[in-house]
Amino acid sequence: MSPTLTGLQQPSPAAFQSFRIGFDPRDIPCVMASWEEIFRSQQWVEGKFTRLFEDKWATWNGLPAVATSSWAGAAMACLDYFGLKGKQVLCPTNTFMATPLSVLKVGGEVVFGDCNREDLCLSYEAVVLAAKQHPDLAAVWLVHIGGHIAFDVERIAAFCRERGIVLLEDCAHAQGASWHGNKPGTWGDAGAYSFYGTKTISTGEGGMLVSKHPELIEFARRYRNYGKPSYEVEGLNYRMSEFTAALGVVQTDRLEEIVAWKDRVAREVLHPRYAQRVQLPEGMVSGWYKYIVFEPIERSTGKVYDQLCHTILKYPGSFPNSEWVARNHWCVPLYYHPDLTDEGVRA
Ligand SMILES: Cc1ncc(COP(=O)(O)O)c(C=O)c1O
Repeated sequence: MSPTLTGLQQPSPAAFQSFRIGFDPRDIPCVMASWEEIFRSQQWVEGKFTRLFEDKWATWNGLPAVATSSWAGAAMACLDYFGLKGKQVLCPTNTFMATPLSVLKVGGEVVFGDCNREDLCLSYEAVVLAAKQHPDLAAVWLVHIGGHIAFDVERIAAFCRERGIVLLEDCAHAQGASWHGNKPGTWGDAGAYSFYGTKTISTGEGGMLVSKHPELIEFARRYRNYGKPSYEVEGLNYRMSEFTAALGVVQTDRLEEIVAWKDRVAREVLHPRYAQRVQLPEGMVSGWYKYIVFEPIERSTGKVYDQLCHTILKYPGSFPNSEWVARNHWCVPLYYHPDLTDEGVRA
């Protein structure tokens, strides 16, 4: 049942504008029951709830999934699996520092690229330019900025396939997103999610790797656990605890509802107010991690990123679209408040 939004137009400045973690208090009893079971089971890691979270995520995502302690575990497993040490990897400069730092940590060389103004994500032109300037370009980190899918994902994926370039999708913002039903992580060789505290759905800390390559999935299961049991894989500890996984289970069940709720607020309340916003192409669903506009607004949560990564890392280069984006976008607060539904629930 689609939630109704009685009260959204009227109460307080607009209740959905005050920060709230992407979590539904109706799920607390279920989480507590799972935790009770975990306490009694004497298995606090690598157990039933980790598998259940992975299975549910795999069903939503349409790809096999491996849970990790954060985005970093999933990202490092991908980069190590594809042997990117000493190789050139293209990253957008308009992203969180996690993206280029993951490349540097595996001993790769970061090449920065520009974004589109329309979607804030790495552009097709930037990928073509990087491949021309760096004929040995081995991989691309495509970051789905803000909760929608990068508009150039199809063309970038086709280009990378043709050239034998590994395509990794940074899906840290992209929970709940899809394009014509296709989910993040399905265009490239792998996708890495974050369930950090501010994300559309959160487990406090947590990550998930998805991939169409069964060998990478197997590799990641060992990678997150110091390479156990055979130690052929040189991983470290990127395990998720069972308590976190139990949260992930209810969160995955709630994902579509949370996104549908935010989508209704976006369409019914925010779109009429903000003409200059990210305009989603036909068939695209955003998870609404951020609601991004290209006009200064009175009440904003600030920018997705106001500092570009190449500037922070003191790399040379000119990235005019990214510089424009950093100056000219703002985020309208949009947080999930299930108590604003008509379902009789008050948090
Ligand atoms: C684009 C992007 N990539 C990676 C990360 C890192 O995620 P985590 O905090 O789970 O390591 C974040 C975190 O917010 C992010 O925004």
